Amino acid sequence: MKLDTWLDAAKEIVVGAGALIQELAKTGPLVRHKGPVDLVTDADIKADEYIVSRLRSRFPDHEVLAEESGGTRESDFLWAIDPIDGTTNYAHGFPVYAVSIGLFIEGVPAVGVVYEPNLRELFAAAKGSGATLNDRAIHVSAVDSLEQSLLATGFPYTLRDDPGKIMTDFINVSLAAQGVRRAGAASIDLCAVACGRFDGFWEVGLKPWDTAAAGLIVEEAGGRLSRYGGAAFDHFAPEMVASNGIIHQDLLDILQKRD
Ligand code: IPD
Ligand code: CA
Ligand code: CA
Repeated sequence: MKLDTWLDAAKEIVVGAGALIQELAKTGPLVRHKGPVDLVTDADIKADEYIVSRLRSRFPDHEVLAEESGGTRESDFLWAIDPIDGTTNYAHGFPVYAVSIGLFIEGVPAVGVVYEPNLRELFAAAKGSGATLNDRAIHVSAVDSLEQSLLATGFPYTLRDDPGKIMTDFINVSLAAQGVRRAGAASIDLCAVACGRFDGFWEVGLKPWDTAAAGLIVEEAGGRLSRYGGAAFDHFAPEMVASNGIIHQDLLDILQKRD
């Protein structure tokens, strides 16, 4: 089967899930706590079911790893699903959240879609075919200094357990950049890097369902991904830096500082 077939299916499913969560938002989501600051809503659960059932019926040989319903990591064809990325925003009615679906083939991202239903923005990429926003090609920015860069970050739900380095990084990057945003949806932050709205992004503690689709979209838009030390990015490891490539090393230099 071709990448296009999987990409088209993922696009259709992610837009359908986006419509579902928008419909549920009208009545106000039912919110439950997974941890002190980690929420889940009825919409997360319903969108997760919606996506998983459709992927399973279309691709019965594939496996899924979904944020709310779990799954396996061990498959040559593995769909990573975040039914709502930005759940805290969704629960508060702050319209910055997305549905994210990415397909790993033998551990390598091959297809990725991120749908932001408020702006109706559909970001998509297939390996080797470039990245698009609503079917138009996108590219990372050409900004070449941190001083001129608008950057984004996020914080893990475990921030309170060990805030030291995370907050130090936040201060240090904020003092070097034109601006730093913390909007609350990693997939949207990454897609904003892909289309040149942001010039870079960093975060520790992300999960494969946060990065599978949007990481591929950044790379296919000409950007670079790595860990904080510059090593190759691993979707199952905790650190991520994404950028237009040009400012990447300058951002790494700050994140490698320990005090
Ligand atoms: C979260 C968001 C947030 C990021 C967190 C993620 P969720 O995902 O992407 O921006 O800072 O690390 O866990 O819980 O809303 O799907
Ligand atoms: Ca997420
Ligand atoms: Ca989520």
